[in-house]
Amino acid sequence: VILAEPGCTGRINRVQTIGVFGGTGQQGRGLAARLSAAGQRVVLGSRDAARAVAVAERLGRGVRGADNAQCAREADVVIVAVPWAGHQELLTALRPELVGVIVVNCVNPLGFDDRGAYGLSVPEGSACEQAARLLPDSVVVGAFHHVSAELLLDASQSTVDIDVFVVGDDRAATDQVQALADSIPGMRGIYAGRLRTARHIEGLTANLIAINRRYTTRSGLRLTGGQW
Ligand SMILES: NC(=O)c1ccc[n+]([C@@H]2O[C@H](COP(=O)([O-])OP(=O)(O)OC[C@H]3O[C@@H](n4cnc5c(N)ncnc54)[C@H](OP(=O)(O)O)[C@@H]3O)[C@@H](O)[C@H]2O)c1
Repeated sequence: VILAEPGCTGRINRVQTIGVFGGTGQQGRGLAARLSAAGQRVVLGSRDAARAVAVAERLGRGVRGADNAQCAREADVVIVAVPWAGHQELLTALRPELVGVIVVNCVNPLGFDDRGAYGLSVPEGSACEQAARLLPDSVVVGAFHHVSAELLLDASQSTVDIDVFVVGDDRAATDQVQALADSIPGMRGIYAGRLRTARHIEGLTANLIAINRRYTTRSGLRLTGGQW
């Protein structure tokens, strides 16, 4: 299993194998569909290999399915797209399979009540920082927190016009994840800070959900003011 090429500071465009934990869910399927359409090899991971295989067959275009552990073993990069409630347990169990792997976390620790969504308090500071604590031998990068699964899965949209904030402490890994986001037409991967800032990005999703509810939309972020 590979990873970030040491010392790399440029964009990497080679075809990779992307694993997706929770690949049977909305966000996992959406990212898998867009990444495979962009030419990446994708392995959907699930707690139940048969479920992943069935979902992968429906997605087509060379997407395969496996249980989460096998998915981790085959992947260069793993995207974690499971609910916050299952985050700690899953990553703890798969720590050996994730040694040396770039782990891309898009998990938003959110609560919901009659006033809408709100950010949960996480002892480690954020889901990304919890992942980094649980996986000391992996490289954790935060990305794709604000990308709506509905938009990803909307086949009528040929592009996903959104900026993806990429946070992490390893330059080669954040470069690689930016390149992954860039491979999806319309999407731009933009470095947005160290892993300790992931809490702000995760929490901002509560505001996007409020916007979506008020305006019946699928909001995302687009930065102004520079060349990206
Ligand atoms: N939905 C969005 O628009 C969106 C946008 C940005 C970020 N996210 C983040 O992406 C993650 C997934 O969101 P989602 O809407 O796709 O969720 P989801 O559909 O509820 O769940 C995704 C998949 O996770 C697996 N799963 C469920 N509970 C689990 C547990 N306790 N342990 C391990 N795996 C479990 C299930 O797959 P198996 O049963 O096959 O294992 C499920 O299909 C969340 O953390 C969310 O914050 C979502």
